[in-house]
Formats: sequence, C-alpha cells, structure tokens
Amino acid sequence: MKITIIGTGYVGLVSGAVFADWGHNVVCLDVDKKKVDNINNGIMPIYEEGLEELVKKVSGEKRFIATTDYRSAVEHGELIFICVGTPSNQAGAANLDYVFSASESIGKYTPEDDYKVVITKSTVPVGTHNKVREHIKIGAGDKKIKFDVASNPEFLREGTSIYDANNTDRVVIGSDSEKALSVLEDLYKHLDSPIVKTDLASAELIKYAANSFLATKISFINEISQICERTGADVKSVALGMGLDQRIGSRFLNAGIGYGGSCFPKDVEALYRTSSEYFYDFRLLRGVMDANERQRDYFVDKVFRKYGSNLSELNFGVLGSAFKNGTDDTRKSVAIAVIRVLRGAGANIKLYDPAALENSKKELGDDNIEYMNSSEEVFDKSDSVFILTEWPEFANLDYKDLVEKMNSKVIFDGRNLLDPLEMKKLGVEYYGVGRKEDADDTH
Ligand SMILES: NC(=O)c1ccc[n+]([C@@H]2O[C@H](COP(=O)([O-])OP(=O)(O)OC[C@H]3O[C@@H](n4cnc5c(N)ncnc54)[C@H](O)[C@@H]3O)[C@@H](O)[C@H]2O)c1
Repeated sequence: MKITIIGTGYVGLVSGAVFADWGHNVVCLDVDKKKVDNINNGIMPIYEEGLEELVKKVSGEKRFIATTDYRSAVEHGELIFICVGTPSNQAGAANLDYVFSASESIGKYTPEDDYKVVITKSTVPVGTHNKVREHIKIGAGDKKIKFDVASNPEFLREGTSIYDANNTDRVVIGSDSEKALSVLEDLYKHLDSPIVKTDLASAELIKYAANSFLATKISFINEISQICERTGADVKSVALGMGLDQRIGSRFLNAGIGYGGSCFPKDVEALYRTSSEYFYDFRLLRGVMDANERQRDYFVDKVFRKYGSNLSELNFGVLGSAFKNGTDDTRKSVAIAVIRVLRGAGANIKLYDPAALENSKKELGDDNIEYMNSSEEVFDKSDSVFILTEWPEFANLDYKDLVEKMNSKVIFDGRNLLDPLEMKKLGVEYYGVGRKEDADDTH
C-alpha cells in the first residue's frame, strides 16, 4: 500500500518505519525541516531502541522517505495517517490546531477525483472526526475530492514502541465507511492481535478511556502508599498481593512520585474537559489528577521536613529526568518538576540520565545544575541522592561503594527501586514511597 504519515514525532516516525518494514511504501511528512533532513541522513530526532537501524534499513530498501513537501506527500498516500501532536491548551483541553491544519492541507493537495482514507492516529477527543472531515473540505475548496475518515488510535509505549507496533495487545479501527475499515483491516491483519472494529466516536474514546484507566491505577496505588506510610504496611507487598488477582493484574501498580509524560497528564485532563463539555462532572478523574499532584508534593515535603525550606547549602544528586525509563522524553516529567522545586529552594543539583540529558538541558538550563556522565559521578560529595526515573540500571548500582562517596548517606527513592533493608544495612537513611523501613525485597 502507499502510505503517507503526517507528523514525524514519536508516533509518526515509528509507525512510518514499521509500516515500511511490513512492505508498504511510506512517505513521512513533517513541517520541521531540520527533523526531516536529519531523518533522511539517518540521524533520529528521538531516542527509541532499534529505530535508527530500522529507518536506515527501510530507507535503503527505498520504501521510506521523509519530506516537507505536502503536495507530493498527499498525492502519494492511499492511506494518510495524521500523527501530529495534540498538546493541552490553556484550559486543559486538547489543542487540535495541528490536526486541523494537517486536515486542511490534505484537502488542499488531494487531486480532484482521487480517493483517500484519512486516518487519525493522534489522540483526539471524541467527536473530532466530524471536524477533521469539515477541515478537509475547507482545504479542498471548490475542488471535488473523495475521501473517508477513520480513527486508529495508537497505543505504543515510548521505549518499546517498535516492539509494541508489531505486538500490540489490540488494534482499534473506527469508521463509518466499510471501505475504510476493510483497507485498515488489511494493513493489520498479519499481526497476531485482535482487531476491534467500531464506530468513529467509540474508537476515539477508547484511547482516552484506556489512558485514564491506567492513570487511575497509578493514582490508586499511590493513595494506598499514603495509607501504608501511616499504618506501617508496605506498598510493595500490598501491590504484590493485589496484583496476583487476575482481575486486577500487577502492571501499573508501582507506587512512586506520580505519572507524567506527554500522554497521561494531558489525556486524563482532556477527558475530564470533554466530560464537562457534555455536562458531566467526571469526579473520579478529578480525584486521579489531584492524587497525582499530591503524591509529588508529598515526596518533596519529605525533603523539606528533613532539611528545612532553605536548601542552599546542599548538593543533591539526581538519577533520572526522563518521564519514564527507556526514553529521552522529558515532556511533563515528574522528575523535572521535582528538580525545579529542589533547585527553586536553593539546592545545587547534579543530574544524570542515560538518555534524557539533552532534553533536560533544554528544559532546565544551567542554573545551579551540573550534568554528569554517569551515575557514579552523581554520588560524589552529594548530601542526598534522589532516584526520580525507574531506569533498571539505577537498581543495579554498587551502592556499597557509592554511598561511601557521599557527604551523608541519604537516599530519596521516588520510584521504589531499592530494597529498604539492604539500604539500612549499608547505613543509608532511606526514604521510599509507602515503604516499610525494614522491608526486605529479596523474598
Ligand atoms: N508519544 C507517545 O507515546 C504517544 C502514544 C500514543 C499516542 N500518542 C499521540 O500521538 C500524537 C503524536 O504524539 P507524538 O508524541 O508523536 O508527538 P510529537 O510532538 O513527538 O510529534 C508531532 C510532530 O508533528 C509535527 N507537526 C505539527 N504540525 C504539523 C502539520 N500541520 N503538518 C505536519 N507535521 C506537523 C511536529 O513538527 C512534530 O514533529 C499525539 O496526539 C499523542 O497524544 C502519543
């Protein structure tokens, strides 16, 4: 099939490369010329395992190219996927400007009498398909064009997105056109995954419902961690005991400093706003968002309770700034938010992240912050070390040696990566989230 991808970010670039790897002929379009040039020169704009090799492979096989030229890109695709960003606007709803601008360009550059299937992969509020349709028509003006719209929400996880695209738990496709549904089914039918065929509104809502449910799970276990801290229970034991119930499942039950990233915060908030637009007060989601903020504030309060509100004499080492492990993405990262608060209170920060230092520099600048080349450097003369992203390598450091380099042996573990009993044995003053002081994770 001839496929065009509009928006070459995490979703668009990965989807484009994977579709090309499935044997399709893909053109990826972006308005960002530097990004496009880099991709065509084999330089990836994002860190994603296996992406560089895959893009080089499919480009070499002449099945993948990136461009800024809307006309040729739109003319090329029988299927056109909209994968542009849908960030929050000031009011917390999804900003659809990029989606509408892409839709108008599709209308403008679709040749007369040509037929296109226009598929929204971006996460958009329920009902957006009607507006996409309108904007395509606006772009087409007086020209007669034939097209159908479809919704195909994306569920990939940054860090494992190529694997996810090939092994998704499910494919969701929504359309009111049998032709569009059938062409999309053809695209995905070789996967060993169930395909949910539905209407446009349901497909759009599935994405928000899924992300909001996962965020609810995280906020739920974070609330339980608060009860653990007040009662002497241990949240890891509680999560283990809960998660073994197959109706609950163990994933997304890790207590910590809250959810962040480019999707969960904006999607939960956008669903809440959409509900309000339809005169429904989705109170549970309000609670999920409040719990998420409170969890971060509670963690930072622990620091202020220990050191007081002026942190200006203190050196704080930080492990992790990406919003989660496996990615360089720092958008809405809780780690970045925590670093800002600590630095705002005067602390000198020494930061290391295996993939996200460049993006962290863009967000945080150089004031009172040093960027380190390894975890080991972070410990040198630090008064406290903070674990803020759950990179597995942070769990496997040689803490016996490392804590010896610190001014005082204090660790704030915002991701519950370490074993409290082990830390106690090393003489570390250890602060986890909802952890029992002498909890032993070895059994
Ligand atoms: N990142 C994820 O893990 C993830 C997962 C599932 C769904 N999503 C959703 O997918 C969408 C894209 O997310 P992302 O993380 O890939 O975004 P991104 O910001 O990484 O990439 C978006 C790209 O679109 C380009 N763009 C903007 N306007 C354009 C236009 N008019 N024409 C062409 N290109 C344009 C930008 O230059 C940018 O490169 C969002 O709706 C997001 O919620 C993201």
